[in-house]
Amino acid sequence: RGEPLVDAFGRVHRDLRISLTDRCSLRCTYCMPAEGVPWLAKDNILTSAEIERVARVAASVGIVEVRLTGGEPLLRRDVVDLVGRLARIEGEQGPLEISMTTNGLRMPELAAPLAAAGLTRVNISLDTLRPDRFLELTRRDRLDDVLAGIAASRAAGFDPIKINAVAMRGTNEDEIVDLVRFAVDNDAQMRFIEQMPLDAGHVWSRVQMVRGEEILDRLREVFDLTPVGERGAAPAEIWAIDGGPATVGVIASVTAPFCGACDRVRLTADGQLRNCLFAREESDLLALLRGGADDDAIEAMLRLCITGKRAGHGIDDEGFLQPDRPMSAIGG
Ligand code: GTP
Ligand code: 5AD
Ligand code: SF4
Repeated sequence: RGEPLVDAFGRVHRDLRISLTDRCSLRCTYCMPAEGVPWLAKDNILTSAEIERVARVAASVGIVEVRLTGGEPLLRRDVVDLVGRLARIEGEQGPLEISMTTNGLRMPELAAPLAAAGLTRVNISLDTLRPDRFLELTRRDRLDDVLAGIAASRAAGFDPIKINAVAMRGTNEDEIVDLVRFAVDNDAQMRFIEQMPLDAGHVWSRVQMVRGEEILDRLREVFDLTPVGERGAAPAEIWAIDGGPATVGVIASVTAPFCGACDRVRLTADGQLRNCLFAREESDLLALLRGGADDDAIEAMLRLCITGKRAGHGIDDEGFLQPDRPMSAIGG
């Protein structure tokens, strides 16, 4: 078995985030314009056999968790089969753990087959509980489908279920408490996310951003919050609500970055390795895979990609540049 993936700062990489498609069934205003973005070329999208191969090599060098992302991962027709293939891969500590971040729209049909195929945890994005707002924010009238998706996920036994909301000024900041209550009622963990400069329109502004501290202040007006455990390599800081067992998370990627403990590497739907959400360079694994490379060459590219990882996202640095790829093509 290969040595673990360690970068120049001693960070050991255990988490591989794989984007299955850049397409999405919603058009969240903070992510995509109404007409969408120029899609990745179909021919360049990794096949499930190629994804499986990369995951197998990654598992041999210390990756223990694979998170499937998008766009919207459930738009991929072979997603259940792919989950099954990935869940059978043996890592160093047993089978790979397979999780997913989804908008939930297709969960009513897919939750049970995904669970049977070996998916264990799901994070579902939901920014508002109000139908009119949902339509405005996602440009699709599908709140009921997301709610049905959350119910189906619960029925399928995924544990935990996390609900992600990007906190937005003048949009959903008044729903923070309602969202927490909704999550608690549905045995899920609500998490609020600071918006990062990854919007399609490049209009992100630090001044507009709802900060983690502000989210906590709003929560503390209503709930008694006590910190839970160590954050480790996880983006979210977790708080017990009114003594627990229910919890709420805050992901303050901008004001309290977790880059120092980052254990993630990303694979885009078109086969590019990225060592950070905000990476400026990518490693062309697609060319390698389609050029007949062996597993050693794939492993070598993984190592090279990690070697070039910077200390942090650099959002606060002068000359910070938003990545060229939109969030939907990186995978979040
Ligand atoms: P868990 O394993 O359940 O903790 O998942 P997660 O929170 O890592 O993943 P999820 O896909 O639910 O992402 C939640 C938020 O964290 C999104 O806004 C992501 O863009 C952000 N996020 C995930 N990974 C990273 C990362 O490596 N760096 C930064 N800055 N943000 C990240
Ligand atoms: N900043 C932070 N989170 C974002 N997401 C989408 N765009 C951004 C952004 N600019 C969230 C989605 C989803 C997760 C994958 O990332 O809402 O929950
Ligand atoms: Fe789709 Fe997620 Fe982007 Fe919304 S944030 S448009 S659900 S990829």
